[in-house]
Amino acid sequence: MCGIVGYVGREEAAPILLEGLGRLEYRGYDSAGIAVCTGKQLSVHKAKGRLRILSDMLDGGRLVKGCVGVGHTRWATHGAPSDVNSHPQVSRSGKIAVVHNGIIENYAELKAFLQEQGVPFTSETDTEVVAQLVEYFYEDGKVDILEAVGRCLHRIEGAYALGILCADAPEQMIAVRKDSPLILGFGDGCSFLASDVTAILRHTRRVAYLDDGDTAVLTREGVQCYNYLMQPIEKTVSYVDWEIDAAEKGGYEHFMFKEIMEQPEALRRAVFPRIRDGEVVLEDLSLTNKYIRGLHKLYIVACGSSYHVGMVGKYNLERILRLPVEVALASEFRYMEPIVDEHTLVVVISQSGETLDTMAALREAKRLGAKILSIVNVVGSSIARESDEVLYTWAGPEIAVATTKAYTTQLAVLDLLGLYLSKILGTMDAAERRTVLDEMLLLPEKMEKILEKKEDIQYFASRYFNHNSVFFIGRNIDYALGLEGSLKLKEISYIHSEAYASGELKHGTISLIEEGTLVVALGTYGKLFDKAMSNIVEVKTRGGDVLALTTESRQEEMAKTANGVIAIPDAHPMLMPSLGVAPLQLFSYYVALMRGCDIDKPRNLAKSVTVE
Ligand code: F6R
Repeated sequence: MCGIVGYVGREEAAPILLEGLGRLEYRGYDSAGIAVCTGKQLSVHKAKGRLRILSDMLDGGRLVKGCVGVGHTRWATHGAPSDVNSHPQVSRSGKIAVVHNGIIENYAELKAFLQEQGVPFTSETDTEVVAQLVEYFYEDGKVDILEAVGRCLHRIEGAYALGILCADAPEQMIAVRKDSPLILGFGDGCSFLASDVTAILRHTRRVAYLDDGDTAVLTREGVQCYNYLMQPIEKTVSYVDWEIDAAEKGGYEHFMFKEIMEQPEALRRAVFPRIRDGEVVLEDLSLTNKYIRGLHKLYIVACGSSYHVGMVGKYNLERILRLPVEVALASEFRYMEPIVDEHTLVVVISQSGETLDTMAALREAKRLGAKILSIVNVVGSSIARESDEVLYTWAGPEIAVATTKAYTTQLAVLDLLGLYLSKILGTMDAAERRTVLDEMLLLPEKMEKILEKKEDIQYFASRYFNHNSVFFIGRNIDYALGLEGSLKLKEISYIHSEAYASGELKHGTISLIEEGTLVVALGTYGKLFDKAMSNIVEVKTRGGDVLALTTESRQEEMAKTANGVIAIPDAHPMLMPSLGVAPLQLFSYYVALMRGCDIDKPRNLAKSVTVE
C-alpha cells in the first residue's frame, strides 16, 4: 500500500528518496511524489503512474537540490489516482508538505471547517486536510511547527503515519504514527524515516519503531521522540540483520518466482529449529500448561491467503486438539460479536504484521479478554508488538504482492503450534505426532522435488492460460488448499476463479460447468480420494476439462479419469497443503506470465493493506 521515505542529512535528498521509494514499489501504488527543502522553500514534484515517470522527470533526482526531503508512493483511497491527489500534499502557502499513509476519518468535517475559514483546497484527499490544518495552527506565528502539528493531532481521527516538512524549519522533518507503521533509521550525520525497513536498509541497519501516539523530530544530529503527551522519550534501537539481497531479485525475472523457489529454504528456517528430539520446541512461547489446558477454543483471525492458512488449520488443529477451532476473516471479526473470552486463544496470522483489519480484530479480541498469539513474518511489525505471544515465520522479506513463501511458512508454523498444544492437551497419539514431525523435516526436500518439475506445470499453464473462468474443487484440506490456489490465480492472472468444497457443486455451481470449463480438482487427501474421484466424474460428464492434483501413489488411478495430472510426493495428510500449494503457485505464475500480466504488482492490489 502507500509508502513513505524521508531523509535528513548532508547528501542530496531527492536521489535517496527516489531509490528508497523504488524499494517500496512492491507494496502497490498508483502515483508518487517527493518534497525537498530547497533553501527556505519546498520543492514539490508529483506524478501519477509508475515511479519511473517521476524519476525521469527529475533526472533521477538530480534536478532537485536540498538535503532534507520526504517521498511517498500513494495507493488511492480518497480521490482518484492523479498528479494533484498524489502526496506530498501542500498547504495553501506552500510552506507545509505532508505525506500520509492511512485514512483521516473525520477529514470531511475538518475540511468544511477550514473552508469556512477561507482555506482553499486543491485535491480530493483526506491528507490535504492535515497540511492545511497544520498551517492553520502555525500561520498565526504564535506556535512553532512542532506545536502546530501537536494541535493538529488533537483534531484528526483515524489511522496515520505522517512525514511533515516545514519551509521555515528546513533542517528537520516531523514524523507521527498512529495505527500505521513508521520506522526511524539512524545513520552517520543523517536520519531516515520509512514505512518499511527495506526502503532505508541500503543506508542503515540501525532502526527504531515508532509506537502509536509517538512523534519524532528528525535532524542530521539524530532524532528526538515524544510520546502522545509530548514528553521526550527514548526509543530502543534495533539492528536489522538480514541482507538487502534478500529483498532483491537476484537474477530471477520476478520476485514471485524467486520467492516460490525460496520455499524449501524458508521451510527449513521456520521448521528445523523448532523440532528437537522428535518434539516441538517453541522457545518463543510463554503460555503455561495450565492456561493451555483451560482453553475452550481457538479462534484464527486473518485476511486473504493468511486466512486460507487458517482454513487449513481448522481442519488440522480441530482433528488433533479436539477443541473447536473457529476461523474468521479479520474484516468481519469485530463486527460479528464474536464469542471470545479468557479461555480463547486467538491466533492472528499476518505476513506483514501491518494489515489494518487484522490489527483491529486483534484489538477487539484483546478487549474481550483473549490472549493473542500471532504468526507473523515481519519482525517488529505492529501486530507482532501488540500480541501476547509471537511465532515468527522467518521466511525472509517477501516482496511480490502475491504471497507464496509466507503462506507455506505460516502453515508450517501453525501445524507446529497445533502439534505442540496437542502434546500438552494429550489429544493426539504420540506416535502419530512423531510421524508428522519426522515428515515435517522432509518437507523442504519434497518441496524441492516439486519445484524441480516446474516445466511440467509450465506445460499445463500453456494448455490452459487462455481460459476465462476456472473452478477449484476439493474436500476437507483440499478445499482449504483450493481457496488459496484460486486466489493465487485470480490475483495475478485476472482470470475469474472460484473455489468450492466439491460436495457443494451439486447445490448450484455445477450448472456453470459446460464443455471445456477448466476445473482444477484437488485430490491429495487420501481418506477422501474416492469421493474426489466421484466429483471429477460428475464434472467430466458435463464436459468439464479436469486438471487434477494428487499424490504420486494415486497418480495412475487419477490419470484414468482426469485430463491432466500433477503429482506431488506423498506425506502425512496434515502436510499435504504445504506441498500442494507449490504447483498451484507455479501454475498461477506461468499462466500470468503467458497472459503478459504484471506479476509482482497486480493491478489494484497492495502488499501491505493498511486501510479498512
Ligand atoms: C494474497 C495475499 C493477501 C494477503 C492478505 C493479508 O496473495 O498476499 O491475500 O494474504 O492481504 O496480508 P497479511 O498476511 O500481511 O496480513
